[in-house]
Amino acid sequence: MVVLAVAVFVMLSSCAVGCLGNKNSTELKLWSMENQSMALQLAAVLKEMERLKCEQTTLQQQQNALTQVYITSHQKRAQKEVGTNILTYGSNDEEEDNLPFSEEDSRKRGDPCFHYTVLDQAWRATNTTTKNKMCDRNFKWKGWYRLFYNGKSLQMPEKCVPVNKCGTQSPLWLAGPHPKRREGIVTRRVCGHWKKNCCAFRSTPIQVKKCRGNYYVYKFTEPSSCYLAYCADINTLVCGRCRRNQSCVSRDKINWRCKGKKRMSSKKIHFFASYPGQLKGKVNRVKYSKVLVNVGRAFDRRTGVFKAPVKGVYQFFFSTQTANTGLKTDLWLVVNGYWAAVSHTHISRPSTVGSLSTYMTFLHRGAVVYVTHNCGSSWANAASMTITFGGSLLAQWK
Ligand SMILES: *[C@@H]1O[C@H](CO)[C@@H](O)[C@H](O)[C@H]1NC(C)=O
Ligand SMILES: *[C@@H]1O[C@H](CO)[C@@H](O)[C@H](O)[C@H]1NC(C)=O
Ligand SMILES: *[C@@H]1O[C@H](CO)[C@@H](O)[C@H](O)[C@H]1NC(C)=O
Repeated sequence: MVVLAVAVFVMLSSCAVGCLGNKNSTELKLWSMENQSMALQLAAVLKEMERLKCEQTTLQQQQNALTQVYITSHQKRAQKEVGTNILTYGSNDEEEDNLPFSEEDSRKRGDPCFHYTVLDQAWRATNTTTKNKMCDRNFKWKGWYRLFYNGKSLQMPEKCVPVNKCGTQSPLWLAGPHPKRREGIVTRRVCGHWKKNCCAFRSTPIQVKKCRGNYYVYKFTEPSSCYLAYCADINTLVCGRCRRNQSCVSRDKINWRCKGKKRMSSKKIHFFASYPGQLKGKVNRVKYSKVLVNVGRAFDRRTGVFKAPVKGVYQFFFSTQTANTGLKTDLWLVVNGYWAAVSHTHISRPSTVGSLSTYMTFLHRGAVVYVTHNCGSSWANAASMTITFGGSLLAQWK
């Protein structure tokens, strides 16, 4: 009676699995056993149950992954709707390409990086001396501006400019550094040089923003008096030629040059460990006790857990060896509680098969990574190095 009840349960479950496209027919297999002894039938039923449990967890994982994708896309949409402040998103300039919003979104939101007036007036250049004295008080300023010199992008000087330059008497320069991209819109003081005093005129402060592609936009306003005019630093023409992965730097604020951003860091994280025995069925966290490499000490041999010590891009690999015919063996790489990658083996004929899986991902500091043996059977001995887990930090993000 008991066996019968179990058999019915197995059949029902297999139907559910079968409906999802599994071609393996459990019912036929069991009916073919009906002339066998009770013990053999029971063994067959138990084996089937083990297989189905494995199937069930896999399906559950797939469902969880789908739910996660759904929630993430939902959250993104919600964020867009409430207008999350894009200006402060991301923690540094090097993350430029990881912004979750497209440029299209920024345009829609009225980002000054896309909504500026081109101010291409050669007389504003720091190397020009004109007889005409220009005064920016006579100009109707509205919104944001980007400085150009004959069609080439440049920026305001960050250093005192000699008098009678920039087509005016008292040239206006930015009394503070240009912002980084992560700083968003900042307010900066503006100074006018006159009679040996670099800040003789403390003009109305202006707003500045750094844009993607190494240029700045300024929200100019009417200066405090005449003759004052905003300057365009001819030395910064070089900045317009910087690549995306470079920034324009200057020590003296006179000579500027493009400098590549450093992505790689000296921090070294590498580990490689193995499990020197056999694994059967469900093992929540494989405790790879034989540690061969652990540079940076981010892998804990007691728990089998790797904990990211810095933010960056990591690569992992994990392997297994299996020999049980008909039995599915699944090892999963678990990243922050999510099942990220599987090492799957399923052999139909008597043989032995090794499986190696790799995974590369961006991790925040403190992220937890380990391997779970979800089902099946894995084989190793002290010397075989068949059940292994390892990884490296490829590039650190500041
Ligand atoms: C089981 O045995 C019966 C008779 O004893 C036979 O007719 C039937 O074909 C057998 N079934 C299988 C699957 O061997
Ligand atoms: C200012 O600098 C630009 C670019 O180097 C140059 O083409 C121009 O002739 C210079 N103007 C003066 C007046 O020196
Ligand atoms: C910057 O990008 C260019 C290609 O656009 C590449 O050749 C160069 O190696 C990169 N430099 C750095 C420091 O990443």
